[in-house]
Amino acid sequence: MILFNSRIQRFRGILSLFCAMVVTMVMAAACGEKKTGVVPHGTVNDSESDDIVTLAIRYKNDAGFRRKILEDSLVNPSNRYAQIRFANYERNKWTQLPEACFLARPVVRADVGATVPTAPQKTGDAWESMEASSYEISEKNLLRRGEELFTRYPAQLAPSMVKALESAGAVSRYGLWQTDGSVGGLVWMVLPGGVYPAVTCSSCHASVDARGEYRPGRPNHLIDSGKVKDDFYGRRTLYSTWGPGKVDVAGDGENNPVVIADVRTVRFQTHLHRTANVKNSLEALAVRIETGLIMAHRQSIRPTSLDAFALAFYLWSLGDAVKSLPPASHPGRSVFERHCGNCHQGTGLSGQPVPTERLNSPVAEHPSSVRGTGYLNCVSLRGVSDRGRLLFGGEATGIDAMFDPQRKAGGHFFGNRLSESALRDLKAYLNAL
Ligand code: HEC
Ligand code: HEC
Repeated sequence: MILFNSRIQRFRGILSLFCAMVVTMVMAAACGEKKTGVVPHGTVNDSESDDIVTLAIRYKNDAGFRRKILEDSLVNPSNRYAQIRFANYERNKWTQLPEACFLARPVVRADVGATVPTAPQKTGDAWESMEASSYEISEKNLLRRGEELFTRYPAQLAPSMVKALESAGAVSRYGLWQTDGSVGGLVWMVLPGGVYPAVTCSSCHASVDARGEYRPGRPNHLIDSGKVKDDFYGRRTLYSTWGPGKVDVAGDGENNPVVIADVRTVRFQTHLHRTANVKNSLEALAVRIETGLIMAHRQSIRPTSLDAFALAFYLWSLGDAVKSLPPASHPGRSVFERHCGNCHQGTGLSGQPVPTERLNSPVAEHPSSVRGTGYLNCVSLRGVSDRGRLLFGGEATGIDAMFDPQRKAGGHFFGNRLSESALRDLKAYLNAL
């Protein structure tokens, strides 16, 4: 990302201050509660004891194990993504960081068009603490906690989202989804300086479909988090050029916004990120989430390792919700096997990363010094019919646009010389996914 938002800079340190300080009684009460009647970390419920529980406990207790996972999962040790993590994860400053402890509550419809709420004077029932609570480690509890973190944990402070909450029109203009319990998955977050909106995982990685149903994992390809930043600060910068469904996550001095991932299919992939810079596994995903949250909070606080694992396991579980594969007899299946099956393989319809040049991807021309590997992830096509934007930069808005022979942007021109009938069958197959 080329721009650095200096007005957000003042938040640096505030979080660590917040969590390290013995703040007002309200905070102390909020962050100390909920401890009664819960089994301490690391206790196994025998009836559910299995691989996941064993892995979760090891992950939680063994910093050396976590470090090893990191080392084994990073593909390009010389890019900045790897270097920051090699230098700090379970080493140096990051080991000393306080555990995250937030006082937050969901942004709801009644907040739209209203003034920003003030911090509660006493622990109100609507304000909940999002702290390192302890819970008995079972698959069920990990999923429950993972879902809670997905929808409630302030993933990143987003002061500019105030702009999107100005009116009902603004909510939809900036592409926030709405349910009875939440506006865009945003939360209000109490900081010593006031109350600010923050995005959660669900702001970008969940959406509401045409039938009004909340769909965790299905990407929000309508959210325009770049435009809302520029509009809030009253200027025109590259942020306004991203467009909906894209975020520049790299911080590498290049303008390379990337489409929001469909995390329903995360477990079907060999690698993570479009740049395929992380080898995938449940535990590598947990490290990715843990280190990502440390970076998103400017290296001032960290989630507990167990919470990161719970979030990873929750994302892993979302694969259960994607449609099952069409029958092998589907007419588009043989076209797909012939023209696409070399790369998109197996039941995940995903595969090993592909050199950027082989895809004629625009990414080849400006590789990222932070995340670049020279490859692009062969993303899973399960659930692809349900994504608003396709390809690295979201260049295609859906399957028709992607396989339009006239398409010029985004690379990946496979299948563009198929006969009309083969193309029709192929598109029908993709639309059934
Ligand atoms: C502001 C929007 C935004 C928020 C909030 C957000 N993400 Fe993402 N996420 C993205 C984008 C954009 C990508 C694509 C990055 C890439 O491919 O390099 C992504 C990619 C991912 C991936 C990689 C998936 C894959 O298949 O490659 C995972 C895992 C992920 N996010 C998890 C999370 C979790 C967990 C949270 C909450 C703690 C979260 N994200 C919050 C925008 C967001
Ligand atoms: C050489 C390997 C390769 C071949 C052959 C290939 N793909 Fe892909 N496919 C990829 C990679 C890598 C990506 C990710 C591209 C990007 O991020 O820009 C991708 C992305 C896609 C996407 C977009 C998914 C998304 O969420 O962005 C679709 C749809 C797709 N491929 C379908 C097909 C079809 C259909 C064929 C056959 C006509 C095919 N692919 C052939 C490697 C391949």
